Amino acid sequence: MRTGRLPAGLCVLGVARRPLGDDGFRAAMRAAVDEFARLRPVEEATWSTLAPRLFYHEGDFGDRESFLGLAARLAKLDSQFNLRGNRLYYLATPPASFAPIAENLAAAGLAHQETAGGFRRIVLEKPFGHDLASALELDAELRRHFHERDTLRIDHYLGKETVQNILVLRFANGILEPLWNQRYVDHVQITVAEDIGVEGRAGYFDSAGILRDIVQNHVLQLLALTAMEAPVAWEADAVRDEKNKVLQAVRPIQPENVARDVIRGQYAPGWSRGTPVPGYLQEPGVPAGSTTETYVALELRIDNWRWAGVPFYLRAGKRLAKRVSEIAIQFKPVPHLLFDAARPPQPNALVLRIQPDEGITLRFVSKLPGPEIDLRSVGMDFRYGTSFGAEPPEAYERLLLDALLGDASLYIRRDTLLRSWELVDPIEEAWARGAGGRPHLYDAGSWGPAAAEALVERGGRAWRRP
Ligand code: BG6
Repeated sequence: MRTGRLPAGLCVLGVARRPLGDDGFRAAMRAAVDEFARLRPVEEATWSTLAPRLFYHEGDFGDRESFLGLAARLAKLDSQFNLRGNRLYYLATPPASFAPIAENLAAAGLAHQETAGGFRRIVLEKPFGHDLASALELDAELRRHFHERDTLRIDHYLGKETVQNILVLRFANGILEPLWNQRYVDHVQITVAEDIGVEGRAGYFDSAGILRDIVQNHVLQLLALTAMEAPVAWEADAVRDEKNKVLQAVRPIQPENVARDVIRGQYAPGWSRGTPVPGYLQEPGVPAGSTTETYVALELRIDNWRWAGVPFYLRAGKRLAKRVSEIAIQFKPVPHLLFDAARPPQPNALVLRIQPDEGITLRFVSKLPGPEIDLRSVGMDFRYGTSFGAEPPEAYERLLLDALLGDASLYIRRDTLLRSWELVDPIEEAWARGAGGRPHLYDAGSWGPAAAEALVERGGRAWRRP
């Protein structure tokens, strides 16, 4: 609203069970923007334009009657604000409600657009299923009422500026492409590390684990953007075709290799930001003896011409030493080192810092000043904050605006979703049969289990310490 990008005529109708009323909803929204809006303090002029467009409907997701009331309310708003039948349904609900809500929207005549004139889009928050079979089931249920092109599955990582910049960096600069392949790249490391624990979400997290919570979506998306070919056009399906293609080329880890290629860990008590913190098993709501992983590291291979022979090491974890997400492209060392250096220099690396401290660093070797030739790795640094001065928009600002405008580029398409589950399922199945034993314990506040070091060391490599 404040940046003037919202389409004219927009109204928001909140739907939930609590008896709030329009005024109560407006008060709750005001408190929320006062606390969370990126641009604060909230300007009164902006708020007074938005507030009269916020409405509330009390209703139950499972109750058909509620949806008839909703339809009547929407029809009224439509004529009042000339909305031309356009609807964007944003489901911030438990996933078990997705299908019943779609069903009830349809029963109230609120789904397919053919009958309505305007667009009918549905935006969903993950998880989209628990595995391939449940994702297919959910998809079939949604498909009865919404087209794939109108089904917008959020992966909030794709809304991050730094993530969008991966493709700009790769495809708007000529110097990188010639190097971006197996001839020059030794390996790639993708890290999504968090310092927080499960933060009261044990009910969800314990049935998911970090592989489903972070790797199946965010990390595989980062991999796809890093490894994909150039799309034929800057257009939603052209970009998503290439992402899907590269994920199709990722070699699934066979169950018999899971113990070797995937390391899972679980945090034990330790420290976070100077405070002692409990281990995962001591967190409220975690079942005794849970084997859910809070850390995972794995090695993937991509079977195509660009990436043959290049390991992609992925890791994600909670209660790690710090919050950092990054992609590091590690280049091969020089074929022959002329200099008799006391320490062999670190090969070149290009590090894309997704968050925090958003930026890009190129590491190269330099001469240490002095009478002898001594080598040091130094960094050439780009920082968003310094170069552009302004705070990047929040991921959700971009994603929700795109949903309103009908641009699906940054949303997860069905084929990619299903492929991600195909890559994750064999690992989950092997773990369920006990492959690799219980998760390795690691101290909260550390960089994860020692076994994860061995995963990269066997290839003569080491994890970066971001
Ligand atoms: C969510 C996960 O998708 O991403 C959370 O469910 C995780 O467990 C969060 O904490 C991390 O997001 P961000 O933007 O803080 O990196």
